[in-house]
Amino acid sequence: MGSQTVDVQWELATDERFANVVAAGAETATPGEGHSVHAEPAGLTPDTEYFYRFRTGSHISPVGRTRTAPAAGSNPASVRFAMASCAHFEEGWYHAFRHLAADDPDVVLFLGDYMYEKNSGHSDIVRGYVEFDEVDKLAEYRLRYAQHKTDPDLKAAHAAAPWLPVFDDHELKNNWWGVNYDQPARKQPSFQAFWENMPLPRAMKPANSAIPLYRRFRWGTLARFHMMDTRQYRWKQAPNNDNTNCTELRRTDRTLTGAAQEKWLLDGLAARESTWDFLGQQVFFGQRDGDGKAATCDVSEDAWDGYPANRRRITQGWVDRRVPNPVVLTGDVHRHWACDLRVDFDNHSAPIVGTELITTSITSRGSTTPPSNLPQNPHVRYIGHQRGYVRATVTPRQLTAEFMGVSSVLVRDPARSKLSVVKRFHVKAGRPGLRPG
Ligand SMILES: [Fe+2]
Repeated sequence: MGSQTVDVQWELATDERFANVVAAGAETATPGEGHSVHAEPAGLTPDTEYFYRFRTGSHISPVGRTRTAPAAGSNPASVRFAMASCAHFEEGWYHAFRHLAADDPDVVLFLGDYMYEKNSGHSDIVRGYVEFDEVDKLAEYRLRYAQHKTDPDLKAAHAAAPWLPVFDDHELKNNWWGVNYDQPARKQPSFQAFWENMPLPRAMKPANSAIPLYRRFRWGTLARFHMMDTRQYRWKQAPNNDNTNCTELRRTDRTLTGAAQEKWLLDGLAARESTWDFLGQQVFFGQRDGDGKAATCDVSEDAWDGYPANRRRITQGWVDRRVPNPVVLTGDVHRHWACDLRVDFDNHSAPIVGTELITTSITSRGSTTPPSNLPQNPHVRYIGHQRGYVRATVTPRQLTAEFMGVSSVLVRDPARSKLSVVKRFHVKAGRPGLRPG
């Protein structure tokens, strides 16, 4: 579309055939915003399914489905959500996105690595990124999103439900850290392309190399989704060249969230407005201790293990605030995991104070070697090696999480990639701890 400005009309209806249009409007797609539009219909009815479409000239878009959350004070009987992350375009076909769409969830949480700034590097890729080995400019980031959005299964997942996306590192650069990042020129183009290509409101448009990403959604009195940002405000990862010198890693002022987001989270949790509190975020929250010795710090410095004081302030914080049912939702590690959470992970008889559900990748390559340190980490309850996603059903009494696996992402034929429930857990409201079922 080059330098053209394009007028786009949108319609929102209660039926798929648009017989009952309840809202309509117009947006201007400009080159400065990558020809994206961010329509924000107001005055909609809570707890209602809607359908939308766009029109420009004689072109009409496919129809998308969305829904509004139940009213703040209402008592919904349930919410069904899907969580997904890590969709390297080259490393597989998006069968998991197609199955996720078919599940017809109320809402999709996308927990980071929607795209990758860098090519796979593996020899058995199923398709290639165009043009660039590594992207770092606005036009290049935009092209990468555009290529992802040619995929029919990804488009189906977007059209099936509203999404709550957050980014992780690869939308900008592997393992980037926010505060004083040494490649600051990549921030603004990365955030701009993310905002243009995600269903985010105009109020979240990035400016001055920052994007206001953390935010909160409420599903009546049943659930709240605290969508977090674990990249922009973090200190640089601690050095990992000496596991016995833990001085930097153990600094009590070390932060992954930044002070403002930590306060926002704990103040929000203290309000106790819902039965369930879901912390949607990017990097592994529970401890993964390599050798079982509390004196060493052989951990993943990029995950919460690299910021243990910040993690403890949050877990102790929700205990002190009597938050009834906190559940951390995570992506990043390209395998399914499930963890019981403790304030002190080294004390294996300490009470369980929450749950972490970690979704595997949609396609990105993951290790199939079981970690050797599971005996030292008894709070880890499950690890699965397939590609896929997690789907959850939440009621006032119980959370049910199903870890979904696809048999292959390397075969293109949908008939040859089977979906299965590879593990199921329940968590009872008011009684923390994962129960297989
Ligand atoms: Fe990833």
